[in-house]
Amino acid sequence: MYYPQEIVDEVLANTDIVDVVSAHVHLKKRGKDYLGLCPFHNEKTPSFNVIPAKNMFYCFGCGAGGSAITFLMKYNNCTFTEALKELADRAQITLPAPNYSEETKKREKHRQDLLAVNKEAATYYYKLLRTRKGMRGMKYFTDRALSPETMKMFGLGFADGARSDLTEHLRKAGFSDELILESDVAVFNEKQGLHDRFFNRVMFPIQDVRGRVIGFGGRVLGDAKPKYINSSDTMIFDKGRNLYALNLARRTKADHLILCEGYMDVIAMHQAGFNQAVASLGTAFTPGQAALLRRYTKRVLLAYDSDGAGVRAALRNIGILRNGGLESSVIDLRPHKDPDEFIKAEGKEAFQARIDNAENSFFYELRMLSQSYRMDDPASRTAFHREVARKLCTFTDEIERENYIAASAEKYFIKTDSLRRLVAQYGNAAGYGQTAGEARRGRPNTQNASKVSPDRSRKLAADRRPDRFVPSGTSDGSLPGDTVGKAAAAGGQRNAAAVPADEKAGRGADPGRRAPAGPTRAQKALWEKQCLLLTWIVDDPAVFAQLSRYLEPQDFDGAVYQRAAGLVWEQMGSGSGTANAASVISAFETEEEQESAASILNMHLEGIEDADDRAKTLRELVYFIKQASLERMTQNGGRQSLQELLSAKQKLQALRTVRFQL
Ligand code: CTP
Ligand code: MN
Repeated sequence: MYYPQEIVDEVLANTDIVDVVSAHVHLKKRGKDYLGLCPFHNEKTPSFNVIPAKNMFYCFGCGAGGSAITFLMKYNNCTFTEALKELADRAQITLPAPNYSEETKKREKHRQDLLAVNKEAATYYYKLLRTRKGMRGMKYFTDRALSPETMKMFGLGFADGARSDLTEHLRKAGFSDELILESDVAVFNEKQGLHDRFFNRVMFPIQDVRGRVIGFGGRVLGDAKPKYINSSDTMIFDKGRNLYALNLARRTKADHLILCEGYMDVIAMHQAGFNQAVASLGTAFTPGQAALLRRYTKRVLLAYDSDGAGVRAALRNIGILRNGGLESSVIDLRPHKDPDEFIKAEGKEAFQARIDNAENSFFYELRMLSQSYRMDDPASRTAFHREVARKLCTFTDEIERENYIAASAEKYFIKTDSLRRLVAQYGNAAGYGQTAGEARRGRPNTQNASKVSPDRSRKLAADRRPDRFVPSGTSDGSLPGDTVGKAAAAGGQRNAAAVPADEKAGRGADPGRRAPAGPTRAQKALWEKQCLLLTWIVDDPAVFAQLSRYLEPQDFDGAVYQRAAGLVWEQMGSGSGTANAASVISAFETEEEQESAASILNMHLEGIEDADDRAKTLRELVYFIKQASLERMTQNGGRQSLQELLSAKQKLQALRTVRFQL
């Protein structure tokens, strides 16, 4: 944090979040709160809440949430400091000169050093391509019909057969071996020592949105395997949160972006004038990338390979895009394999026509689905109709749903009325606005039925099923974990959603690309309870004095939770005896962390009116968290004194019988 928290708090205290948000979103008062259409995802029924009492906003549709600072960061796509400045100006508060902590300065310096290595390497490859040593690379690109301007625009380069020329070059330029290794342009083994990672490959520098080189992809000149090698993730290179050529595509005049699979596809499209093309980076498309796209567009066209793997990847990514609040359509490239080949074979006008005729992703899904049914067989045909009806239940907005019902009925020769009845049947059983899978299992729609009944919540501590609570709100149902947990959640999700999707995954098989295992069910249940408890404390400060005798911030599982709890504890302990959600949120630096903090502080347990029941529930929450903490303590073995362990055990024991007063 560059500014002391007191300043941030002062600015927030002098900011009315309703004012800030209503400058951009039309809000309607509802009870104590305000409601509007979320500017961060596409919706037709409002789920975007502004909560003046907490000086925060929260969207139940997509999980966006945070303080007025977070709102501006997201809305204007700006940094923490920029948002803070804007609010300070509004509130007529003069900010002091920023005060970077030593740690921040060091981290920033390291980041800059890594960027410098990448830049130097990119320059090296770029120049080499244009020398005698680079002739083979130049021939390769020329044979693939790339113009010199295109090669320049993408900074294309070449790594020749030498095994340590780049490494030597970087050393001479003054970079340390550690830094070179960490940047991943070189690798180390016993036999060769530190040596170049890429050789005999044409080089594609990968740039972040601001155009800084953060990694590389390298392609063999022939048919050898692996076809591409990519830099592994580093401090500056996160494959799941960057997109190839977004630095160029963000400036497009088109009203959409095109998402495709390959570097060469992107380059071919740009060369043909389609400067709205981007690609994922040799790994499966992620929710993080969808969020990134959402900053620049509302609509994405998929230009995936027309083979089976491409279709499966498209189907999977339609879901990810939809969850990220993006509309999508699919470009039909048949009979050609990919955009590169299509443009070579048919030219840009034909490609433009395919863009204009891109198929709405919902109908694309139906069409793919229909291929596994036999329409001339009445039983199979009926099964298909049912599946269509279930999918139609995913539309929460009634008008939108009705339009899709009519269009689907027409496409598949079903009577509109019968289809509507079928949809109503599934919708009434399971609620609208969930996945077809959930509709099939008849799971209640948490968004519509978002109360936990007193009966069920009484069994709270014993019960580990996460879907018993009011949703935390994150769109993918994941909970904020610590960084590891987060990566794990994304990884886990990728695996779960993507049975067929990573299948091209023989590709780019960098070591270390394996996704870590996702959080366990039990862990998720624990996180959920941590959210409930922290929200409870913020909403009802009186409970703090009672439970703080049993629980400390260290008892929380996960870095984000510990930090949030630490801040809540600190604020509760200070003069006011209350904790301020907006202030806690703004103590986190990045938008993502702020969003996590917002969702941690916005999970309510509703529907338990009886004070006794509420007290019991509270005790069970505290007990559960303490017990998990004690379990972790024992498993860690020896990191705490026997004293601490005993004290924790005693507290847990006491919690069995304590009666909280509400
Ligand atoms: N990819 C990868 N590692 C591989 C194969 C592919 O990382 N071994 C990634 C690359 O980002 C590549 C994309 O997947 O651009 C698409 O792969 P593919 O369709 O096989 O390659 P193309 O992009 O079509 O490349 P080319 O036209 O040069 O064959
Ligand atoms: Mn290709």
